[in-house]
Amino acid sequence: MSVVKALSERFSCRKFTPDKLPDQKVHELLISAQRTASWCNTQPWSVHIVSGELLVELSHALVEAAKIGRPPVPDIEFPEKYIGQYKERRKVCGLQLYKSVGIERGNAEKTQNQLLENFRFFGAPHAAFISTPQELGTYGAVDCGLYLSSFMLVAQEMGLATIAQAALASYPDIVRQFVPIEEGRDLLCGISFGLADVTHPVNSYRTERETIDSIAAFHT
Ligand SMILES: Cc1cc2nc3c(=O)[nH]c(=O)nc-3n(C[C@H](O)[C@H](O)[C@H](O)COP(=O)(O)O)c2cc1C
Repeated sequence: MSVVKALSERFSCRKFTPDKLPDQKVHELLISAQRTASWCNTQPWSVHIVSGELLVELSHALVEAAKIGRPPVPDIEFPEKYIGQYKERRKVCGLQLYKSVGIERGNAEKTQNQLLENFRFFGAPHAAFISTPQELGTYGAVDCGLYLSSFMLVAQEMGLATIAQAALASYPDIVRQFVPIEEGRDLLCGISFGLADVTHPVNSYRTERETIDSIAAFHT
């Protein structure tokens, strides 16, 4: 599969089948993603893959925190608010999601339940937790972001489905009770991955992108 094809076909999967991937496949994925470029080849990402009973226990703890409305306390601050075009794009993205699963505007209970799916890893059998070293600051996080992208594209080529989830960085203290994130690192993001449940309506829509004119300028 070409990178262009992988980029155009990948999507954020929000319902997985429970089928566990063979260890060999997960290793193949990590070996390929490891080719990601980073500033000075520092390769600052650290990846913890959680599966099986541990993933179930972690999910319970995260769901409980979210259910009681515990405010997120991410290591790296989430955006305080979205304004202008970012607010608009975020809104469209949310509307597409809720429409796909028939959640009407204002239905707080169903909305909350869909939100909680983040902490159920959308049914995925595996989750990767990506952390970045504090001392490398923003550029370390940039390298880890590139890694996220490689991971998702390689997975796509391998016939796997993924979703990057900042939501999984909401309660790093809880994650640390289950996963030994190394000292001096910030939890950046999680990626749930496995096989897509292609029959589920939540996986039936695709997000749009802006035209090149709106993001690029050419100067001579
Ligand atoms: C860094 C990052 C964090 C994300 N966090 C979440 C998340 O917490 N929950 C979620 O449902 N989707 C999350 N997403 C998925 C985005 O909503 C999705 O990538 C975007 O809407 C574009 O859709 P696509 O991935 O299907 O192309 C995240 C994506 C990225 C890159």
